[in-house]
Amino acid sequence: MDRCNLRCTYCMPEESLNGKGVFLPSHHLLSDGEIELMVRVFTSLGVHKVRLTGGEPLLRPGFVELVDRISSIEGITDLALTTNAVLLPRYAEALKKAGLGRITVSLDSLDEAVFREMAGGRGSVSEVLDGIEAAEQAGFDNVKINTVVQRNINDHTVPDLVEHFRNSGHTIRLIEFMDVGNVNHWDRQLVVPSADLLKNIHDRWPLRPVAKQPLGETARRYAFTDGAGEIGFISSITEPFCGDCSRARITADGTFYSCLFSARGTELRDRIRGGLDAKELTAVIRDLWEKRGDRYSELRNELPRAQPHVEMYRMGG
Ligand code: 5AD
Ligand code: SF4
Repeated sequence: MDRCNLRCTYCMPEESLNGKGVFLPSHHLLSDGEIELMVRVFTSLGVHKVRLTGGEPLLRPGFVELVDRISSIEGITDLALTTNAVLLPRYAEALKKAGLGRITVSLDSLDEAVFREMAGGRGSVSEVLDGIEAAEQAGFDNVKINTVVQRNINDHTVPDLVEHFRNSGHTIRLIEFMDVGNVNHWDRQLVVPSADLLKNIHDRWPLRPVAKQPLGETARRYAFTDGAGEIGFISSITEPFCGDCSRARITADGTFYSCLFSARGTELRDRIRGGLDAKELTAVIRDLWEKRGDRYSELRNELPRAQPHVEMYRMGG
């Protein structure tokens, strides 16, 4: 689902939409059956982890049933959702029952004015906190809280977030503002290097690195030495982790990408609609995966600027 009920400036700033048909008409979106087929094909190739993202997935009609269908697929051991949490009070319990395993919530600040500035004037901190609370009530523990940090915009409010979520059982991940998409006016000056954040947080609440981190993990994890939980840093700009990345992405309209920053993907939806069956689709995806050579973040500085990227709300994080 490429639509969203918020307008985060780093993802889909209001002015970039211009009130015109930038969102996909519903027949362009993969149907539940097509998504299920994709997931089955990926599991046959050894994928066990699936993350449903957007835009805002909870805006998709029948989303709970879709979760149910995906969680029932043999081989899926980890089914996760990334959401802005605004609609979680309505859906958290049903999602738990449908077999959703984990939830990640995007929350950039606890300061209402800063939040509203970054979310394009929509939603509110209290709605997001209510959403996190609803997730807790429904039995989701260790919610991940994604915070995109931008210099002089929300960096001064990071300590409040850290304090709020220490001892909560949830884990904040501080994300460097990335040059994904084309519409978010990315500017290196706005990137706060994770090393700086780490130092400031460590000065106030001592941290130690978490020794064993699973392969493919995007966040560098640290534990508070006083036992208040963990915090993660996602440093795609200052410490690219392309070599460790094993993610494949399918956009809302069924295009395959092997990198968040790819300029071009491989259209699969129309091929499925044209009759490509599961076996043929498996061969296509295996081939794409074996040939993938993306490592944009590592090459960022060598490439000419202004390469076109897919928008984040089509691709998901
Ligand atoms: N830079 C860093 N993170 C981003 N996200 C969306 N756009 C960007 C960007 N330009 C984050 C959102 C969400 C996750 C899917 O990606 O905050 O939590
Ligand atoms: Fe919506 Fe998430 Fe993009 Fe914000 S970052 S506009 S909440 S999809």
